[in-house]
Amino acid sequence: MQNKKITVRCPATVANLVCGFDVLGMCISDPFDIMELELTDDGKIFIQETSCYCLPTDPALNAAGAPLLEILSGLNTGIGFKIKITKNIKPGSGLGSSGASAAGAVVAADHLLGNIFSKAELVRFAMAGEEAACGARISDNVTAGIFGGVTLIRSNTPLDIVPIPSPELFVTVVHPQIEVKTSYAREILKKEVLLTDAVKQWGNVAGLVAGFMKNDTGLISRSLEDVIAEPLRSKLIPGFDEVKARCMGVGVLGGGISGSGPSVFMLSKDEATAKAAEEEMKNIYNKLSLPHYTYVTTINHKGVEIIKESI
Ligand code: HSE
Repeated sequence: MQNKKITVRCPATVANLVCGFDVLGMCISDPFDIMELELTDDGKIFIQETSCYCLPTDPALNAAGAPLLEILSGLNTGIGFKIKITKNIKPGSGLGSSGASAAGAVVAADHLLGNIFSKAELVRFAMAGEEAACGARISDNVTAGIFGGVTLIRSNTPLDIVPIPSPELFVTVVHPQIEVKTSYAREILKKEVLLTDAVKQWGNVAGLVAGFMKNDTGLISRSLEDVIAEPLRSKLIPGFDEVKARCMGVGVLGGGISGSGPSVFMLSKDEATAKAAEEEMKNIYNKLSLPHYTYVTTINHKGVEIIKESI
């Protein structure tokens, strides 16, 4: 007998959106992983990874496997899953690689099980994948991946997710080929912040959310400022200040570090500006002789998407 099988597209996500450390996220159309999930009856999780990133295939240590273990532990049945992951989002890129695996796995599993969970429940399961990958139950990438678009996590405990309507903006991303481990990028942050910085930051988070909801690109632009994480994390990214300055020079609304880096993203009102920013990024990293990938893409309002289903 042939088992029920599903194929999903698992998009990259930009966590933090500059000022919203751990609370804001945005799903983008490119790059994305492809994941195939098959329902089995052996009670086990089997993981096949077709890229060369040497990701763990022990389900408890794998970003897609750990959330499925949590789902199965609550179901008390003999079912299992066979997962095949084709990864295009490089681990350690700052583009939500582990989040894409976790979000893809839970959305696909839920569909195979007959859509029994709410999106918020799927986020909770997916957070186990982030914990397996980087040691912290971060929810910003997986939330953006599961809900699509721009998302706000008002609270992690209890989980309170607010999807934020957003205008059709263009997103330029550069991924310099160095690895920044999320765990390290979190370790270097100060555990306490100055009240003056906190006031600036929450003004910017509120401004950014209002800017998205009101389609006020001036307000979005003014709010894309991070006085807490960026000053410390940008030191890990060669060329960061120049990328930002030159992209602002060609008219982007603003941008900064994607998640914990090293990818850097910029938002633009139109494709021509987004492409001009891409050129600036390429020139800078070519000058630094640092291999890099760039993407000119859009906000992805769908999130994880089913692209094929059999039986
Ligand atoms: N919000 C997390 C961080 C995202 O910045 O550490 C990690 O992908």
